[in-house]
Amino acid sequence: MAAAATARKCLGVDCPNEAGNLRCPTCLKMGTDSFFCSQDCFKRNWATHKVIHKTKTTGLYNPFPNYPFTGSLRPVYPLSPRRHVPASIQRPDYAEDGIPRSERKFIGRHNITILSKEEQEAMRKVCRLAREVLDIAAREVRPGVTTDYIDEVVHKACIERNTYPSPLNYMHFPISVCTSINETICHGIPDQRPLEDGDIINIDVSLYYGGFHGDLNETYYVGDKAKANPDAVRVVETARECLEQAIQIVKPGMLFREPGNVIEKHAKSRNCSVVKSYCGHGVNQLFHTTPNIPHYAKNKAVGSAKPGICFTIEPMINLGTHKDKLWPDDWTSVTADGKLSAQFEHTLLVTEDGVEVLTARLPDSPGGPVPMPEVSSATPA
Ligand code: MF3
Ligand code: CO
Repeated sequence: MAAAATARKCLGVDCPNEAGNLRCPTCLKMGTDSFFCSQDCFKRNWATHKVIHKTKTTGLYNPFPNYPFTGSLRPVYPLSPRRHVPASIQRPDYAEDGIPRSERKFIGRHNITILSKEEQEAMRKVCRLAREVLDIAAREVRPGVTTDYIDEVVHKACIERNTYPSPLNYMHFPISVCTSINETICHGIPDQRPLEDGDIINIDVSLYYGGFHGDLNETYYVGDKAKANPDAVRVVETARECLEQAIQIVKPGMLFREPGNVIEKHAKSRNCSVVKSYCGHGVNQLFHTTPNIPHYAKNKAVGSAKPGICFTIEPMINLGTHKDKLWPDDWTSVTADGKLSAQFEHTLLVTEDGVEVLTARLPDSPGGPVPMPEVSSATPA
C-alpha cells in the first residue's frame, strides 16, 4: 500500500490545526518528539505538556490530572501489579472474581451470627495475626517510604503467616492493604508517593485465616511525633479516644445505635466532626456483615449486642467538615474540604459480661498516643 503522508496534528489540547515545525525542545533532548502548530499554542499548553517530561523520566504520573482535588494529596501511579498469593493459602470467595457472593446471600439486618466457642477461638487467632501484621507495617513508617512499599511489607507478612490479605480483590480493590494519608478518610490505595515528614497515615489491615476475617487499623505520625502539628495531634488523638470510649460501653444489651452518641460527643468536644458515610460492621466468616454500627449521634441502627458476636468500631474523625468525596479511582475517600482525617479500628468480641478487644495492642506495638497540645484549637479563632 502506498504510504499516504498523514498530516501530523498539533499536540495542543483541542487544537484543530496541523502541526507546524515547532517541536518541544525538552522532548527532543529526551529523544522523543512532539509537535505544535505555533509558539503561541505551545505556550498555552505548556502546563499540561511539561507533565509528560517527568512521566517519561521517572515513569510516575497522576492518573487524574484534571480532577479537582480537595487538598494537596495526589495519587502517584503506576500501581504495582497484583501481588501473588500462593495456592496453598485458603482464599475468601471473592478472591478470583472480586464479588463477595456469600456476603450478598447473607441478608437481613436482624440476622446476626453468634459464634461458637471454636469459632470465637478462630477469630482470636486471625485477629492476633492481623495485629502482628499491622505492627510490622507500622514499623516501616518514616519519611521517604512509599505506601506501595508498605503494601509489599503487609503482603509478605500475610503470606508468611499463611493468611490471605482480605482487601485484595474485595469488590475489585487492587491491593492488599488500605493506606490513607492526611485528608484521606479511608480506602486509600497504596501507590508510589513517598511519605513526608508531618504526614499522618492510617494503615488498615485485614486478614483471612481459618475461614475468618480480622480487621483493624491505626493512624500514625510520619517523622518525629513529638514535633507533630497540633491540629494533626488533635484529630489523631481524638479519633483514638473516640474508639476507646466507644469500646467502654460494649456489653450484652448495648444498642448498636449507642457507640455513635459516645463518639460524636467526644469528637465535638474537640471541635472535630464524624464521618457518616462509612460504618463499623459485623466481621466473622464474612468480611463485612451485620450489624451495621454508625459512628455518628442520633443514628437509627437496629439491634443490640449479644455474647458471641463480633463486630468492628472504626470511627473516622475530621478536623473540618464531616463530608466526604470520592476520587475517580472509585475507592479513595477524602474530606470535602481537604482538611485532615484520622481513624482507629478494632475487631471486638462481645462476652457474657463485656467485651474482648481481639485486635488489642501488644506491649511492643509501635505508635500509641502523644499528649494533646496545651492550647486547644477548640478556642474560637
Ligand atoms: N478494612 C476496611 C474496613 O475497615 C475495608 C477495606 S475493604 C477494601 O472495613 F476493599 F477497601 F480493602
Ligand atoms: Co472494618
